[in-house]
Amino acid sequence: MRGIILAGGSGTRLRPLTDVHSKQLLPVYDKPMIYYPLSVLMQAGITEVLVISSPEHLGSYRALLGDGERLGISIAYAVQRRPGGIAEALVIGAPFTDGRDVCLILGDNIFHGHRLPDLLRAEAARLDGCTLFGHRVGDPERYGVATVDGSGRILTLVEKPTAPDSDLAVTGLYMYDADASRRAAELAPSDRGELEITDLNLTYVREHRARLVTLERGSAWFDTGTHDSLLEAAVFVQALEKRQGIRISCLEEVAYRMGYIDRERLALLGKELSPSSGYGRYVMELAGA
Ligand code: DAU
Repeated sequence: MRGIILAGGSGTRLRPLTDVHSKQLLPVYDKPMIYYPLSVLMQAGITEVLVISSPEHLGSYRALLGDGERLGISIAYAVQRRPGGIAEALVIGAPFTDGRDVCLILGDNIFHGHRLPDLLRAEAARLDGCTLFGHRVGDPERYGVATVDGSGRILTLVEKPTAPDSDLAVTGLYMYDADASRRAAELAPSDRGELEITDLNLTYVREHRARLVTLERGSAWFDTGTHDSLLEAAVFVQALEKRQGIRISCLEEVAYRMGYIDRERLALLGKELSPSSGYGRYVMELAGA
């Protein structure tokens, strides 16, 4: 399975923070936002990743992440010329996925849960059609909302309903079979002129081939689309890291623990990060350097 991170969009809800910066490069406590979704893919065992962003920001992602080789993975890049919808990522990514299953993640979604990596690997192995990941929320009208039967099969799916039928929000993490790019290319654009991800998912729902896996209670999910949710995510990361004395979504650590790089490489990466940075010291300590 290959991975796509969608990190474009206009970020208008976060202006003026996003007047010159790409939203998904904004800090979430101690690291750029995109580290969080990238670490989710890496922990799911995905080592070939495509980052999609706008023409003005793609260079910044390339400067930050490079070709992924230092992390023992491969990162490619593609442009989305204008915000043509989340499902357009699968059209843009078609040459990259090249007939394989794909895991798409939004660059502004932050997930944390101890069992998430195992869950994602298991779901990738049993994928048939599409698998979405749900989280119970108090404000479902802000999201795609699903109802499911006892086995997790999606019965209804509505984008930002005014009167939601459930509190199960669809998160920005999606797994698709190899047919998704073709389906996305055939979608009719919405009134906003976008290829809507919910329209794509509904093509699978209608065939009874869409599952929703509800993330367990102890897990956390943030869509950092507003100033408040951005701050909430940062405070969550800070609290967790301070309390447990660990860093979450530290790419260098994930790469090491997943076996993508060895201890020598980890030490080298730690040295490259300034020792005056707490993040850098953490990586060096992990490597025992
Ligand atoms: O976060 C989960 C929610 O994401 C889901 O529950 C919804 O079903 C889904 O439609 C989406 O809703 P949002 O309102 O958060 O979508 P938004 O348009 O804000 O786009 C989400 C991210 O994707 C945002 O960081 C920008 C990026 N994006 C979006 C579009 C439409 C792109 O990079 N390109 C695009 O064309």
